[in-house]
Amino acid sequence: MASAARGQWSGKMGFILAAAGSAIGLGNIWRFPYTAGENGGGAFVLIYLFFVFAIGVPVVLSELAIGRKTERNPVGAFAVLAPGTRWRWLGGLGILTGFVILSFYAVIAGWTLSYLWGAVTGALNGVTTAEQSGVVFGALIGNPGLMVFLAGTFLAITAMIVRGGISGGIEKATTILMPILLVMLIGMAIRSMTLPGGAEGLAYIFSADFSKITVGVVAAALGQALFSLSLGMGAMITYGSYMPEGENIHQAGIIVAIFDTTIALLAGLIIFPALFSAGVAPTAGPGLVFVVLPTVFAQIPAGQIFAIAFYALLAIAALTSTISLLEVVVSYFVDEKGWSRTKAVTVLGTACFALAVPSALSQTEGSFFYSLPGLGIDFLSLQNIIWGNYSLSIGALMVCVFAGWKWGIPAVITALESSGHRLPASSAFGFLVKFVCPVAVAGILVYVIVTQQYF
Ligand code: TRP
Repeated sequence: MASAARGQWSGKMGFILAAAGSAIGLGNIWRFPYTAGENGGGAFVLIYLFFVFAIGVPVVLSELAIGRKTERNPVGAFAVLAPGTRWRWLGGLGILTGFVILSFYAVIAGWTLSYLWGAVTGALNGVTTAEQSGVVFGALIGNPGLMVFLAGTFLAITAMIVRGGISGGIEKATTILMPILLVMLIGMAIRSMTLPGGAEGLAYIFSADFSKITVGVVAAALGQALFSLSLGMGAMITYGSYMPEGENIHQAGIIVAIFDTTIALLAGLIIFPALFSAGVAPTAGPGLVFVVLPTVFAQIPAGQIFAIAFYALLAIAALTSTISLLEVVVSYFVDEKGWSRTKAVTVLGTACFALAVPSALSQTEGSFFYSLPGLGIDFLSLQNIIWGNYSLSIGALMVCVFAGWKWGIPAVITALESSGHRLPASSAFGFLVKFVCPVAVAGILVYVIVTQQYF
C-alpha cells in the first residue's frame, strides 16, 4: 500500500506529539512575545486567542482532512481532489512559503544554539541586568559570520533528521521532550511572575486596551495564530497524510491547538513580567526574548543549570518545527518529482541555506540587508511579514474556500469521521469554514492593503 511505503505515525499519540512539535517552537516563545509587545499587549492577545479558535481550529481540521483523505503532499493532494484545476498551485504556494519560512527561522534557531553555548560555558552567568544582557545579544548580532554558521548548523541537523524519514526521525525526537518543555515553562512562569515589578507585565499582557487596536494589530494577530499552529502552507496536510486509519483525527487536531496556545501564553507569562522587572521595552523587536531571558535565569537558584536545560529544549522545539517545514518541501519533491529522499534533502537544504544568508546578515547594523532601500526594514523581518503573515493568511483563506466550496463540507466531515469518531459541532464547523473564515481573512487582507497598514 502506498501509505506504508511513505511511512506513517505509530498511532494517534505519535501524530499528536509530532504535530505539536511542529506547532510549538520559536513561534510561541520568540515570535509571540515580541509581536504582542509590538502590537500593544493585551488587546493583541485577545484577538490572537479569538483567531486561534475561530479560524485556526477550522483550518487545522480542513488541512488534516485533505491530508487524511488523499495521503499526499499539498500539491498532490489538491491535484487528487480537484484534478485538472489550478488548485494545485495553492499547494505550490504552500511549499514555497515553507521553504522561505525555514530560511529565516533557521537564523533565529541559530541564536538559540549560541545561547545554549553561552549557558553551557558559563558565559551567561554574569548577566544580571538588561544592559549586560543587551551587550551579549549585541555581540551575537554584531557577528554576521557566526550567525551564518549557526543557521547552517541548524539546517544541517534538520536535514539529517528529515533524511531519516517519518516515525524513525521525527517522532522519536518529540515524544519525550515536549512534556519536559511544558514543565520547565511552568516553573519559569512562576518565578517570573513573582519578580519585583512583575505584576505590571501581567497587566500589560492580560488587560486589553481596545483603543490600541488597528487593522495592523488584527492582521498581525491573524498571522501569529496561523504561524504558531503551522497553518496555511500545507504542513498539516502533510502530517495528516501520515495518520494511520482508525485514529480520531479531529480530536488530535484540537488537542494540538490547545497545547500550542497554552505554550504561547506561558511564554507570555514568563517574558512580560520579567521584561517590566528588568526595564526592557516591550517593543524591542525580534531580540526581545533573547535579551529578557538571561535576566530571569540570573534570579533563579541554580540558574545556569536551568538555562542550559531551557535553551536545549528551545533549540529542540525549534528543531521539531524546522523538521516539519523541510518535510513538507521534501515530500513534494519525493512524491511528485520522483526524487530520492537523500537528493531532495541535500538539494533543498543547500538552497535554503543560501536564502538564509541574507537573513543572517540582516541583523547586523550597517549591513545592506539591515535596512532595505525604500523599505527601511531588515531582510529577515520583511520575509517574516510577507511569508509568515501574508502568505499564510492567503493560504488559510484558500484552504477554507477549497474545503467549504470546492470539495464541500460533507466530504470534509466524512474524511474527518473516517475513523468512526463523530465530529462534534459539525454544523458550526461547516459555517466557520464556509463563511466566517473566508470573509474574515479576506476582509483583513483587503483592509490592510487599502489602508496601507501593512503589518
Ligand atoms: N509553528 C512553528 C512555530 O510556532 C513554526 C512552523 C513550523 C510553521 N511549520 C510551519 C509555521 C508551517 C508556518 C507553517 O515555531
